[in-house]
Amino acid sequence: MVNRIGGGWLRRLQGDKSQSNEAIGEITTENVPQHVAIIMDGNGRWAKARGLPRIAGHHSGMKTVKRITKAADRIGVRYLTMYAFSTENWKRPKAEVEFLMKLPQEFLSIELDELIENNVQVKMMGIRDLLPDYTVSAIEEAVRKTENNTGLVLNFALNYGSRMEMVEAARKLARSAASGELDPEAIDERMFGSSLLSGNLPDPDLLIRTSGELRLSNFMLWQLAYSEFWFTDVYWPEFSEEHFYEAIREYQRRARRYGGL
Ligand code: FPP
Repeated sequence: MVNRIGGGWLRRLQGDKSQSNEAIGEITTENVPQHVAIIMDGNGRWAKARGLPRIAGHHSGMKTVKRITKAADRIGVRYLTMYAFSTENWKRPKAEVEFLMKLPQEFLSIELDELIENNVQVKMMGIRDLLPDYTVSAIEEAVRKTENNTGLVLNFALNYGSRMEMVEAARKLARSAASGELDPEAIDERMFGSSLLSGNLPDPDLLIRTSGELRLSNFMLWQLAYSEFWFTDVYWPEFSEEHFYEAIREYQRRARRYGGL
C-alpha cells in the first residue's frame, strides 16, 4: 500500500502480538532513532576470509542493504543513510570501482518494486558528476518513482565526501555573499547545515560502523556532531537484523545530553 504514514514493513511494536519477534526484543517504540547512518565496511575482508574476490563481498553487502532497510522500517526508523561510495573510493582498482558503480542499478532492478510497495522514498546524497550514466539514471528513476512515498527515506551516500560538501557549501554561500544576495552575518548553523548535500534531512541520531574500524572516513562530519556512535567487529555482509537491533537497544540505553547536563 502506498502513501500511508510509515513504511510498509513498519510494525507497531506495542499491541501487535502477531509481530512479536525475538530479534526486536526490548526495543521501545518511544525512543527509536529517527535517523540512522551506516558506514558499511568489511566487504573485502569478508570475501578474503572465504577465498572469494572482493567484489563477492560487495555483492553480498548489497543483500545486507535490503535486510537492514526492512529491519529499520519495521521499528519505525524514518531515515536510513548508507555510505555506499566515498569520494576517496575512486582510488580503488578500476574493476572494483566499476563493480561498485553497477550495484545501485542491480539493487534497484531487483528491489525497486518492493520498495515502492512498502512506501519507501529513495534519495541520493553525493555528486552526480563522475558517476556513470547508468548509475545516475537507475537512482534518478528510483527517486522519481518514490518521491511521493511517505515511509522510510532510504538515502544512498554515493560519491559522497564530507569535507568536499562543506567546501562546496562555503563556496555557495560565499558566492551569494559576494553578489550581495546574502548578508554574511545571516549565515548561521541552520543555513550552513541546509547547504550541505544532506539538505534538510535531520542529523543522524545513531551512526553504525561495521568491521571493527573506529573512524569516520569523511562521512557526515558536520551532521554527526551529536550523534551516538556504535561500532561492531561484524563485517557488513554478515550484519544481521539482530546486530542492528542490538545497536538500537544500546542507543536506547544512552542518555543524550547535547553538551548539557
Ligand atoms: C567498504 O568495505 C564498502 C564499500 C566501499 C562499498 C559499500 C557498498 C555496499 C555494501 C553495497 C552497496 C549497495 C547498494 C545498493 C548501493 P571494504 O570493501 O572497504 O571492506 P574492507 O575494508 O574489508 O576491504
